[in-house]
Amino acid sequence: METPSETDSLADQAIVWRDGALELLDQRYLPAQVRYVRLTSAKGVECAIRDMVVRGAPAIGITAAYGAVLGAQEAWNKAGNSWFEEWLGMLDDLAGSRPTAVNLAWGLQRMRSLGLTLRYADPRSELLREALAIHDEDRAANRRMGELGAGLITGRTAIITHCNAGALATGGYGTALGVIRSAHAAGHVSRVYADETRPWLQGARLTAWELLQDGIPVTILADGAAASRLAQGDVGWVIVGADRVAANGDIANKIGTLGLAVCARHQGVKVMVVAPTSTLDMATREGRAIPIEQRDPEEVLSCAGSRTGAAGADAWNPVFDITPAGLVDALVTERGIVLRPDAKKLAGLMGL
Ligand code: MRU
Repeated sequence: METPSETDSLADQAIVWRDGALELLDQRYLPAQVRYVRLTSAKGVECAIRDMVVRGAPAIGITAAYGAVLGAQEAWNKAGNSWFEEWLGMLDDLAGSRPTAVNLAWGLQRMRSLGLTLRYADPRSELLREALAIHDEDRAANRRMGELGAGLITGRTAIITHCNAGALATGGYGTALGVIRSAHAAGHVSRVYADETRPWLQGARLTAWELLQDGIPVTILADGAAASRLAQGDVGWVIVGADRVAANGDIANKIGTLGLAVCARHQGVKVMVVAPTSTLDMATREGRAIPIEQRDPEEVLSCAGSRTGAAGADAWNPVFDITPAGLVDALVTERGIVLRPDAKKLAGLMGL
C-alpha cells in the first residue's frame, strides 16, 4: 500500500492517496512554501498536471493513475454499471494533459486494461489497488536504479544534473537524484552542480531543495555556466533523468539536456541517463518521432511573475529536447544498465 515510511523526506511524500482523494505537494510554490492541494476529480488531476502542480515523467504517470481512480469513482457514482464509457473519455482527457512524458500514457494504459476487465462491476477498489501498485513499483525501481547507477561512480567526484529528476519527479527517491543519493551515501559525491533550468527553475527550486534536505552539498548554476563548469575538470558525471527513451536509445529530457551532453562529450565527461522501463517507448523508433511539448512563450518572457523580455519580442519555448543515443554513456534502468544504448541493446533489455 502507498504508505510513506517515517524515514521518507517531504519530497518523498509529494503524491499521497488519503481518505479517497489525491493530495499533491504543489511544486509551483517550492521552496518558499510547502502547500498541498487535495483533488477529488479526474478533471482536477488533469489541470494539476497541465499547470505543473506535479511534474516529472514518473510522477505524472502515477498522478494520472490516481486521476483514473478518481474518474472511476465519479463515473460509478453517476452511472453505476454503465460507468465504463464515461470513464474512457476522462482517460483521454488525462492523456492529453502533457504530451512528451510517456509514463503518462503508460500509466493510463495499465489502468485502461484493468478497467476493461471490470467493465460490468464496481471497479473502484481494484483500480485503486492498481494505482497504488504503480506508485510502489516506481519507488522500488528508483531504489534499484540508485544502487545500480551508484555502482558506476568510482572515486569521489562532483556531478552535474539538469532539471529535477528527484523524489518530487517520481514516486519517491528519484531517478538521477536517486543515483546521486545512493552515491553520496557511499561517499562518492563531493558536490552536485544543479543547472537552474529556465524557465521553470526546477533545478534551482526543486533539485537544490531536495538535495539540501538530504545534506548533499549543492551549487546552483545558470544554465549557460554548465559548459564552463565542465571545463574545470572536477565533474566526473552528468546525471539526468528522461521523459521518454526511444527504441534506438535517443532521449527526450528537459530542454538544455542536449547542450549539456554535447559539452560533456567535448570535455570527456560521461553522461548517465537514469529512467525506469516505464519511460522506455519501444513503439517510437527514434527521438525525432517523440512529440515535444511547446508551452506558453510568456514563461520565457517573464521571470518570477515579472516581465523581463523586451516588449514586442516573441519567445520559443520547447520544454524538452532530444539527446541522441550516441551521446549517452550509460542508461540505467531497474532491469539493468545499458552501456552506449542502441536499438539492439534496448530490445534485448525489454525482451523483444
Ligand atoms: O517539465 P518537467 O518539469 O515535467 O520536466 C521534467 C524533466 O525533464 C525530468 O528530467 C524528467 O521528467 C525525468 S524525472 C525523473
